[in-house]
Amino acid sequence: ARITLRQLLDHAAEHGYGVPAFNINNMEQGLAIMEAAKACDAPVIIQASRGARSYANDIMLAKMIDALAEIHPQIPVCMHQDHGNNEATCMTAIRHGFTSVMMDGSLEADAKTPASYDYNVAITERVARMAHWVGASVEGELGVLGSLESGHGEAEDGHGAEGALSHEQLLTDPDQAVDFVMRTKVDALAIACGTSHGAYKFTRQPDGDILAMHVIEEIHNKLPNTHLVMHGSSSVPQELQDVINKFGGRMPQTYGVPVEEIERGIRHGVRKVNIDTDCRMAMAGQFRRIAMENPGEFDPRKFLKPAMDAMRDLCRDRLERFDAAGNASKI
Ligand code: G3H
Ligand code: 13P
Ligand code: NA
Ligand code: ZN
Repeated sequence: ARITLRQLLDHAAEHGYGVPAFNINNMEQGLAIMEAAKACDAPVIIQASRGARSYANDIMLAKMIDALAEIHPQIPVCMHQDHGNNEATCMTAIRHGFTSVMMDGSLEADAKTPASYDYNVAITERVARMAHWVGASVEGELGVLGSLESGHGEAEDGHGAEGALSHEQLLTDPDQAVDFVMRTKVDALAIACGTSHGAYKFTRQPDGDILAMHVIEEIHNKLPNTHLVMHGSSSVPQELQDVINKFGGRMPQTYGVPVEEIERGIRHGVRKVNIDTDCRMAMAGQFRRIAMENPGEFDPRKFLKPAMDAMRDLCRDRLERFDAAGNASKI
């Protein structure tokens, strides 16, 4: 059944667990997430970026979510717009059945330039007001995602800011977070703590200098009743890098957000954990393996089934480690 982000995260907060939010843009990813959720009785957040919506088509995505919910009626599913850039993106998502939207006003509508605080408050408050009229939830973002190591935003993948960013921009200010939540009335707040999107987050195993989990603790102390969201939370596991590289890939060594750090975040108010890159890597590793091990293969299903299974296993691991497992039947 459908559930809003607010309903789901309220339950997660009450019971002290976190919910991974997995990105999808195709049927196989949707099936993989739902199979993982079913296997461990977990609720799920499925999210689609603007890119996913234009890749899959809004109508296709909407009917796919309907189908996934019909196939697995026992699993509470929150369908969420990831990184909405303006009012229109958020409202059209809701019209297509999304139960939750992110208004990312940390960046200007071009999604590249860091926005002013006033712009962020105004547009997020507007979206929250409209979404709440029709019963949808809203996630806002305060602080710009980007690397504390390089001091740069993430122009490469088109989601982050361009050019050098200051530490103030890259770390959410706890006092400003209090003001932001009060003024916008968001249901969940995405914070910046040194993570970034994609596979290349850190050039070494992160420590507190480059992955500032203490910022989350400070925000949670000031906003104990606000659901916090961690973006850029793929762990980029060594095993997945190794599979890709073993079968002809050339991914330079890289480090993601250790699952233990996310677990620490969950103990301090993190309720939604965004993961896309790990799922992509799990699938891509299997595409490469099949292509190399069986060069005569040309049936897409022979590639997609092992890829789906690998993504399902990854999703199940995160659902279990974040303690979402076992909660679907309790909501
Ligand atoms: O926010 C980032 C997600 O990984 C979505 O990425 O815009 O390439 O679909 P995308
Ligand atoms: P990753 O690239 O770390 O998977 O982050 C995904 C994300 O934050 C989507 O909004
Ligand atoms: Na989001
Ligand atoms: Zn994100």
